[in-house]
Amino acid sequence: MQIISSLSELRTWRQQCYKDGKTVAFVPTMGNLHEGHIELVQQAHKYADFVITSIFVNPMQFGENEDLDAYPRTFDADCKKLEAVNNHVVFYPTVADMYPNGLKAQTVVSVPNNELEHCAEATQRPGHFDGVATVVTKLFNMVQPDTALFGQKDYQQVRLIQTLVKDLNMPISIVPVPTVREVSGLAKSSRNGYLSDDQKATAAVIYQTLLAVQDALKSGARNINEMQTFALEMIELAGLKPDYIEIRDSSDFGKVTDSSLQAVILVAAFVGKARLIDNLTVELS
Ligand code: PAJ
Repeated sequence: MQIISSLSELRTWRQQCYKDGKTVAFVPTMGNLHEGHIELVQQAHKYADFVITSIFVNPMQFGENEDLDAYPRTFDADCKKLEAVNNHVVFYPTVADMYPNGLKAQTVVSVPNNELEHCAEATQRPGHFDGVATVVTKLFNMVQPDTALFGQKDYQQVRLIQTLVKDLNMPISIVPVPTVREVSGLAKSSRNGYLSDDQKATAAVIYQTLLAVQDALKSGARNINEMQTFALEMIELAGLKPDYIEIRDSSDFGKVTDSSLQAVILVAAFVGKARLIDNLTVELS
């Protein structure tokens, strides 16, 4: 497995792929890899000759009071995990390389102000998606992948990237990968590392709540406000601090109506200092 830290080395590698007629699948990550990330890498092999994974904790997508400094950095262990699934290249850039003009002078990539930008993560983490859109655009420009894989665990993020690629005419196919979960149903996350065993067990209520709302929607319930209130209470009763639970039409993140075909239930909750997110979609017809 090749570890590449400099942009010039990355460009040389990519040029060679073009010359040899080899395709490239890309998995962008912030490291501290778990089975969710590894699933993306394993899936990536299906789409291209070479798989490249980036590890970069992107300062631009963290808010002022968020966990940028505490975010776990486990590069050596990450490389071992990637090697075990035959990942070909790890791209491990520095902050200075990613942001040559500094963070303040950064050109910002911002997705349009549609519903995506007015609910759930976008509302609770102002500027977060600009940080994601900007760094992913930079990474795409650097890696020039044919395919890029993203986890559905970050539901709005995948949608944002699909919009971005279409809007900016990037010749990259985006593959969403289903959420990998613990046996308890808890979505795997780097932030689960902040939790004690007891907290992890309690955090499974997030998935149980999603399932309860999914069941209600499947059996025809459409009293969205009541369902949201019920879900918040269910999370609170388990001792977690809910941040939001939103039930939206998945096509445009608008309200669920009689003509909606699919809903998405989006949730964020604090377990101690860890902020966890999850989601489920539900067919409505
Ligand atoms: P990170 O949180 O490290 O996640 C990297 C990728 O792994 C994302 O596409 C995420 O959705 C996916 N992922 C995380 N947990 C998962 C799970 N349990 N099941 C399936 N996929 C999972 O998301 C980011 O990094 C950053 O925002 C990034 C896209 C790298 C831009 O900085």
